[in-house]
Amino acid sequence: MYRLAPSLLSANFARLGEEVENVLAAGADWIHFDVMDNHYVPNLTIGPLVCEAIRPLTKAPIDVHLMVEPVDRLIGDFIAAGADIITFHPEASGHIDRSLALIRDGGAKAGLVFNPATPLHYLDHVMDRLDIVLLMSVNPGFGGQAFIPGTFAKLAAVRARLDAYGRESGREILLEVDGGVKVDNIAAIARAGADTFVAGSAVFGAGRESDPHRYDTIISRLRAGLAA
Ligand code: DX5
Ligand code: ZN
Repeated sequence: MYRLAPSLLSANFARLGEEVENVLAAGADWIHFDVMDNHYVPNLTIGPLVCEAIRPLTKAPIDVHLMVEPVDRLIGDFIAAGADIITFHPEASGHIDRSLALIRDGGAKAGLVFNPATPLHYLDHVMDRLDIVLLMSVNPGFGGQAFIPGTFAKLAAVRARLDAYGRESGREILLEVDGGVKVDNIAAIARAGADTFVAGSAVFGAGRESDPHRYDTIISRLRAGLAA
C-alpha cells in the first residue's frame, strides 16, 4: 500500500546503473528521476538519454519528475525513453490540460507537482486527467534540504480531496511527497495522507556502491517507520 521511490539525484552518477539495481534489489518500489533544466530550477541534472540508458535494467516504474519550463517538448522524449510516470509543475506549462493529455496519450501515468507555495486550485478542473499528485516538501532544485512542516496541512487537504474524488469516481489518485523524507518523519507524513514517498539523500546517503547492502538497512528502516 505504500511505495518508496528513491531519488537518483543523490545516487553516484559514475555508477548509476549499479545504483539503480542495488536500490531495487534492496526493496525500493519505484525509481524517482529528477529532471532539472537550469531555468525552471537553478540546477541541471539528467534527461531522456539517461532514462533510456537505465530503462533496460528494470521493470520497476521510472517516475520522471520534470522541473523544466517549457514542459511539453520533453514529454514525448521521456515517453520514448520508457518513462512510466511523468509529473510536471503546472505553473511551468502554458496548457496544463494539454500537457496531461500528452502524457496519458503516450501511455504513461500523469501527475501535477505542487511547490510549497503553489496553490491547490490547479487541481480544480483536471482530476479526471490525473493519476498522481506530487507535493513538494522542499523548494525544488536540490537534494538534502529539510522537510517544510507546512506540508502536513497541505497533505491532509489533498488527501481529503482525493478521497472525496475516489468515492464519487471510483478512481484512485496517488499522493506522493518529495523532499526531506527521513526515517524519523516518514510515519508522520504517512499519517497526514501520503502513500508514495520520495527519498534521495536518506537512501543514497546511507549506502554506497562499495557497500550496497546498506541500502537494505535504510529501506527496511523506512518501511518500519511506515508500519509504525
Ligand atoms: C528536489 C527533488 C527531490 C530530491 C529529494 O528538487 O525533486 O526529488 O531529490 O531529495 P531529498 O530526499 O534529499 O530531500
Ligand atoms: Zn523529485
